Amino acid sequence: MFKRLHDLRTPVSFEFEGETVTAEDGDTVAAALLAHGVRHVRDAVVSGRPRAPYCMIGACFECLVEIDGRPNRQACLTPVRAGMAVRRQSVAGGTPDGGAQ
Ligand code: FES
Repeated sequence: MFKRLHDLRTPVSFEFEGETVTAEDGDTVAAALLAHGVRHVRDAVVSGRPRAPYCMIGACFECLVEIDGRPNRQACLTPVRAGMAVRRQSVAGGTPDGGAQ
């Protein structure tokens, strides 16, 4: 379980899978999702098993999500922005019904 060290000072809201997530301005998408309790941000390409952010430094690519319709965004390197729409990435290069390859 991840917990914030302090209350949100400058809250920013965005969407993950249609649910509103409130983060601290300056958080990365991955940090915001983990702090919100999200443990499944993408599916493994071969096995389909759920994956979550791991390294948080841009090395492992476990955090790939679709952001505002663009697939393969590294959530751990992308700062949150008010109103952004983040989706779980469930196939290589995007989402089953959306994200372009
Ligand atoms: S968590 Fe490893 S690249 Fe994002």
